Amino acid sequence: MRILGFAVAAALFAGMAAPGAAADIDGAKLFKKKCTTCHRLDETGKKKVGPNLWGVVGRPIASAPGFKYSKGLGRHKGKTWTEENLDAWLTKPRAFAKGTRMAFPGFRKAEQRAAVIAYLRSAVE
Ligand code: HEC
Repeated sequence: MRILGFAVAAALFAGMAAPGAAADIDGAKLFKKKCTTCHRLDETGKKKVGPNLWGVVGRPIASAPGFKYSKGLGRHKGKTWTEENLDAWLTKPRAFAKGTRMAFPGFRKAEQRAAVIAYLRSAVE
């Protein structure tokens, strides 16, 4: 049984690591380098230039209490930050929400986006 359990775990792990090879990019480091100038990621709910990103994966778009969003992002209200939406947003924020105030150009590499999204998700767990 233990051997079987290990095999299943190993297969699962291999399956997770393969697509996009996000495994070789450290999402935490990337977040620290590219996002923490403007975002906090903690339970305080405190904002910086941008809203607090605690629990943002699965959170309604533009919903952080007390944060004044741009009209561009406000137009997406009612939708959710699914991983797909986050991926589109982090590819080119200005294309996802025209007129956004988020002055971040975007990540060209899918692996970088995947790593940061995985980190945003795992930080709350
Ligand atoms: C120069 C400052 C700045 C940087 C750097 C920045 N952001 Fe932002 N971010 C903002 C601002 C300002 C907003 C609000 C945008 C608006 O209202 O249009 C925002 C909004 C967001 C939102 C939407 C949150 C919500 O409550 O709907 C997400 C998700 C996000 N940023 C993720 C990131 C990630 C991940 C990074 C790093 C890769 C990053 N941001 C880098 C300033 C920044």
